[in-house]
Amino acid sequence: MAIKASDFVWNNGHLVPWDDAKIHVMAHVVNYGSSVFEGIRCYQTPKGPAIFRLRDHTLRLLQSCKIYRIDLDFTLDELCQATVELVTANKVSPCYIRPIVLRGYGQVGVNPFNSPIEVYIANYEWGKYLGSADSDDGVDVCVSSWTRLAPNTMPTMAKAGANYMNSQLIKMEAIVNGYSEGIALDVNGYVSEGSGENIFIVHKDRIYTPPLGNSVLPGITRNSVIHIAQELDIPVIEQIIPREMLYIADELFFSGTAAEITPIRSVDKITVGHGIAGPITKAVRRQFYGIVNGTAEDRFNWMTPVPVKQTVTV
Ligand SMILES: Cc1ncc(COP(=O)(O)O)c(C=O)c1O
Repeated sequence: MAIKASDFVWNNGHLVPWDDAKIHVMAHVVNYGSSVFEGIRCYQTPKGPAIFRLRDHTLRLLQSCKIYRIDLDFTLDELCQATVELVTANKVSPCYIRPIVLRGYGQVGVNPFNSPIEVYIANYEWGKYLGSADSDDGVDVCVSSWTRLAPNTMPTMAKAGANYMNSQLIKMEAIVNGYSEGIALDVNGYVSEGSGENIFIVHKDRIYTPPLGNSVLPGITRNSVIHIAQELDIPVIEQIIPREMLYIADELFFSGTAAEITPIRSVDKITVGHGIAGPITKAVRRQFYGIVNGTAEDRFNWMTPVPVKQTVTV
């Protein structure tokens, strides 16, 4: 899907025209992948636009910076405020929000310390990622021949641009073989996550998901699923998951900002359960969409309202 340009991008404290948000080809990030970023959704609710878990996403951005020794000139509050300001100014809802921190144009060489830190926040119209909205059909996926990053190589708790070279290999392999997505195993052969989603396995009325030690991103949606399941009295167990659990699961689903809650229909052409979204997936999904679409009470305080007067609904 092509990016639909908005009016403004937030850059180091100012709103700049969309077309002016540019970096030089010799910026450190272009050559050495030195960026961290976030992906956040703003939903259209009956009370107006609202950003899902803005503070938690922004906190993860700051934590990604900390892991990569990036000192930011902006605080958590300032970045949250900047995001709301941007969405208000661009008047686009629902939308996808992409904060990026990168090492810019400075000195040559791998050493990143002398390249300036630049912060950008962009937002633009965005719809569904995997599957179709609220569909019970689910997606067909494969286990990737690529593993996720080994723990002592690139830290997966950081949402770093460079991690997505690995994600691209997983995604491309899945696509060329006719699947929607690939599930990566970790370096020891245990289930890790999709190229851009966390994974949940339903087995005998319990939900299982790999712990952070299995090279997964600490997904904000993953955390939301855990909260919702607990509220529904469905046990959630974070434990090491062998690959074959994927084949004998009653239900499987992805979680992620882009994927939201996406049921999985088959893995390596083995049908999951009855080949249609199961009752636990549907129960969790119903609560999730209720909160984000503003039709259910926001009892976890996940939504940040955006004061936009005029919106474009996509
Ligand atoms: C590799 C990876 N895992 C998991 C997720 C899900 O994380 P979140 O729910 O915070 O979007 C993403 C998406 O950002 C991702 O890129």
